[in-house]
Amino acid sequence: MNSIDFSLDTARRLDREDPLADWRAAFHIPPAPNGSDCLYFTGNSLGLQPRRVRHLLEEELEDWARLGVQGHTEARRPWMPYHENFTELNARLVGAKAHEVVQMNSLTVNLHLMMVSFYRPTAERPAILIEKPAFPSDRHAAASQIRFHGFDPDQDLIEIGPREGETNIRPEDLMALIEAEGHRIALVLLPGVQYYSGQVFDMAAITQAAQAKGARVGFDLAHAAGNIPLQLHDWGVDFAAWCSYKYLNGGPGAIAGCFVHERHAEDETLPRFAGWWGHDKSSRFRMGPEFHPIPGAEGWQLSNPPILAMTPVLASLEIFDEVGMSALREKSLKLSETLLQWLDDRLADTVEVITPRDEKQRGCQVSLRLKEGDGRRIFDALERDGVICDWREPDVIRVAPVPLYNRFEDLYHFVDRLEQAILMDRTL
Ligand SMILES: Cc1ncc(COP(=O)(O)O)c(C=O)c1O
Repeated sequence: MNSIDFSLDTARRLDREDPLADWRAAFHIPPAPNGSDCLYFTGNSLGLQPRRVRHLLEEELEDWARLGVQGHTEARRPWMPYHENFTELNARLVGAKAHEVVQMNSLTVNLHLMMVSFYRPTAERPAILIEKPAFPSDRHAAASQIRFHGFDPDQDLIEIGPREGETNIRPEDLMALIEAEGHRIALVLLPGVQYYSGQVFDMAAITQAAQAKGARVGFDLAHAAGNIPLQLHDWGVDFAAWCSYKYLNGGPGAIAGCFVHERHAEDETLPRFAGWWGHDKSSRFRMGPEFHPIPGAEGWQLSNPPILAMTPVLASLEIFDEVGMSALREKSLKLSETLLQWLDDRLADTVEVITPRDEKQRGCQVSLRLKEGDGRRIFDALERDGVICDWREPDVIRVAPVPLYNRFEDLYHFVDRLEQAILMDRTL
């Protein structure tokens, strides 16, 4: 990308040239203390509310009021097969076949359900490989699965982190570890995008290398779904799970997504925790004692889905489908590249960017560390000024300009206000 002049005029010109600019109006932008729109950079934590959510929810409430139990079959979007509304949308979002995806539960629940089926440790091959520092819930889930099978996480939870003094995991270190330890790894469980640094992992290469060693491979896509293009089917990933409240704007605690590769679709020998919603649809209501899983990801469902909690996700996934991941990725790269350039121009001496510079290794998120001053105090000052980013202990500010509702103008104001907050902090 050419050099981009740091000015409000340039930012506004980039916004005028942005083919996705109008989508911002499809979202509620929270107000800043002064009443104008806040500068919202936490779509990687909780995405904003699409305006159409309210309308879809009202339709569900009306249908419930009007139809009672008959809504299961008579609602505008009948509740019985409600989760099927998500199938094609999710399949296009994550690069899957329709029967490989399902909307259900929450992320950690899905990771556990997937590990029940795909983490089958033996004395020779007991280990799970995760990254360090993994998101705590992923580490708890993996360690508890290891213990559940009678193994010891101190021995069998293999963690790969950045080298001393570095902030990202070197892809070659990861590959070398898979090569060296692969014979005792039962499951590789890694993120698509690392939550702290924003580093994107090469999921295709990891899958290929780990499976060649006889391991199963699952991805936590909490920070990847709706952020970067995914091709889960072609990459041959065994399973993946993601939450819908970050980039996917499905609302706090929204119902999650799950992928199971079609090679496992009909494998009834896989152990699984079962529930009636995963049972063959044609005989579900015969209420028999036998369990016959629906072939594919739907066969891992447990309960009938919470319609009111699913609806906001539907409203948002429809937007993703209309815009398409390739257009979103194109704008996202322009946004993050602009942010990086402007930070370099204005704040190279004070701000260290820990997210990889290589565009293949980053998504929307740019993680920053301040080289001087009190990072937390500067972060708090930004927040008081209507700049919403997030703080991750011990010293990182995560900033995620998202292509659906962030503007180039937001980036200009962010860099400007960060500069002012740093200057102000020097005087304290
Ligand atoms: C990478 C990652 N894994 C797991 C979780 C936990 O998600 P949940 O509470 O939806 O299970 C989060 C939540 O932010 C996350 O970012």
